[in-house]
Amino acid sequence: MHYLSSSDSIQTSSLSCLCLTISGDKQLPSSSAQLLNTEQGKEVASLIKDLSFSAGVGEVLLLPRTNERPFHILLAGLGERDKQDSIQFAKSSDAIASMVKSKKLTTVTFSFDETLKISPTDATSILVESFETSHYAFDAYKAKKSDSPSLESVNFHVSADQLEATKNAVSYAQAMSKGRSVARSLGNEPGNVCTPAFLAEQALALGGSSSAINTSVLEEDDMTKLGMGAFLSVSKGSTEPGKLITMEYNGAGDAAPLVLVGKGITFDTGGISLKPGAQMDEMKFDMCGAASVLGVMTAIAELQPPLNIIGVIAAAENMPAGNASKPGDIVTTASGKTVEILNTDAEGRLVLCDALTYVEKFKPAAVVDIATLTGACIVALGHSTSAVMGNNQPLVDKLTSAGLEARDKAWQLPLWDEYHTLLDSPFADVQNIGGKGAGSITAGCFLSKFAESYPWAHLDIAGTAWVSGKDKAATGRPVPLLLRYLMNHVGQ
Ligand code: BES
Ligand code: MN
Ligand code: ZN
Repeated sequence: MHYLSSSDSIQTSSLSCLCLTISGDKQLPSSSAQLLNTEQGKEVASLIKDLSFSAGVGEVLLLPRTNERPFHILLAGLGERDKQDSIQFAKSSDAIASMVKSKKLTTVTFSFDETLKISPTDATSILVESFETSHYAFDAYKAKKSDSPSLESVNFHVSADQLEATKNAVSYAQAMSKGRSVARSLGNEPGNVCTPAFLAEQALALGGSSSAINTSVLEEDDMTKLGMGAFLSVSKGSTEPGKLITMEYNGAGDAAPLVLVGKGITFDTGGISLKPGAQMDEMKFDMCGAASVLGVMTAIAELQPPLNIIGVIAAAENMPAGNASKPGDIVTTASGKTVEILNTDAEGRLVLCDALTYVEKFKPAAVVDIATLTGACIVALGHSTSAVMGNNQPLVDKLTSAGLEARDKAWQLPLWDEYHTLLDSPFADVQNIGGKGAGSITAGCFLSKFAESYPWAHLDIAGTAWVSGKDKAATGRPVPLLLRYLMNHVGQ
C-alpha cells in the first residue's frame, strides 16, 4: 500500500473517496466545505443533518457517488468535541479502515480540518496504523486465504508547514506496524513450528537482511560454559535445544546501548509442575516477549535511529520429561546465586535471570525485559494494561509515558522490600516462587536480584500479548510502547 503526503490542494475532479471527519455537533467544518463546490457542500451539509448519522465515535457512513459529485464521501464521526483525544480518534480511525476494507475502496484522501483536536501528524500516524492493522491476516495454514486488500493508496493533504512532519509520521507508523505484524505472526505460529531454533533463524535472517544488525546465537554448550544453570534447568527437559539469541543494532558508535530482553518460551507445559489441559494451547504464546523484541528490531532496522540497541531472546521449551527439573531442585545461575526451583512452571524467570546476567557485558544504559510472566498479572490489570516494575523510577516513568503516547498502556506495580522476603529459601539463596498473593510482584522481585548493576525495568505482558476466545490471536503488543520508548531517546 502507498501513502502519499502532499501540500497541494485537492483536485476534486480526480478524487475517488474523500474522508471528512465530523464532530458530534454535526457541523461541516468550513475548510471541509471549501473542498466541495456549492452544490456538493449543500448536499453534504444537509445529509449530515438529516441522516440517522449522529457523528459518534467510530460511526462511519459512506455516501455513494452522485452525478454532481463523482467521488465517494466517507463521513467519520469523532464524537463530542471536548472528549476528543488520540484514543477516541483511534476508534474512529479503526472504523474508517474497516469501512474502506469492506467496501473495497482503492484510494482514500484525507484533508484534516481546522477543528480537529489532535495534530494532523498524530491523526496521520493513527490512520496509517489502522490501515496496516486492517490488512493483517495470518492464514498460512488455511486452504482458504483472506482476500487480498483492495486499498492501493491513502493520500494525506496537509499544509506546507506540516508536510515534513506528516511524512515522518507515515514512516514511523509504517515501521511500527511492520514490527508489530512480525510480532503478531511469530506469536500466532504454532509451537511445533516456532521452536527456539525457529526464533534463532528469524533473528539471523533479520541480521542477514539488514547491514545495521548483527545476530549471534549461543547454544546450550556455550551456556554451560557461562554457568547458566537456571536457563539450562528449563531447556534440558525438551528435545528442542535452548538458544540465547542476541541482535545488535549499531547506530551511535560506542554509546551505551539500550537493551531489550524477551522471554521466548516457545511452549510452556509447566514442566513437571504440569499445567491443566484447558487452554494449554495458548501457551504457544509464551514467546510473545521474544516476538516483541524481534518486532522492535525489525522496526529499528527500517528507521535506522542514531542509537545503539541490543535485543536479546531467551528461547527454550518447557516440557515434562524424565530428565526435566523437579520441584525442590537447586541450580546455580550465571550470577553465582543459587535458586531453589519450587515450581517448574515459574520457568520464565529462570531463563530470564541468566539472560539478565549475560547482558551485563554490554554495559547497558538501560535494560528492559518483556515477558508473559504471570497469570497473576491478568488478575491485577486485566487485558488492557501491561505491568511495569523496575529498580529505576525515571526508567519506569519513561516506559509508562511511552505506553500512553503509543496507546499501548502499562502501569507500575511496586517492588517493595516486604515482597522480596517472600522469596527467601531455606536451602538456596532464593526460591523461584513467592507465596499466594502478589504473584506478578514476586516474579519482578526475583528478576530484580539479577539486574542490580544497571537501570532495569520489567514488562509483564501476560494479559496484553494475545486475546483468547473466538478471535484468538497475538496482538503484537508491546511493540508500540517499546518502539516509542526507544525512539524517544533520539536527540536526547
Ligand atoms: N507463562 C506463564 C504465565 C501465564 C499464564 C501467562 C497464563 C499468561 C496466561 C508462566 O510461565 C507461569 O506459568 N507462571 C505461573 C507462576 C506460578 C507458578 C508462580 C503462573 O502464573 O501461574
Ligand atoms: Mn510457566
Ligand atoms: Zn511461561
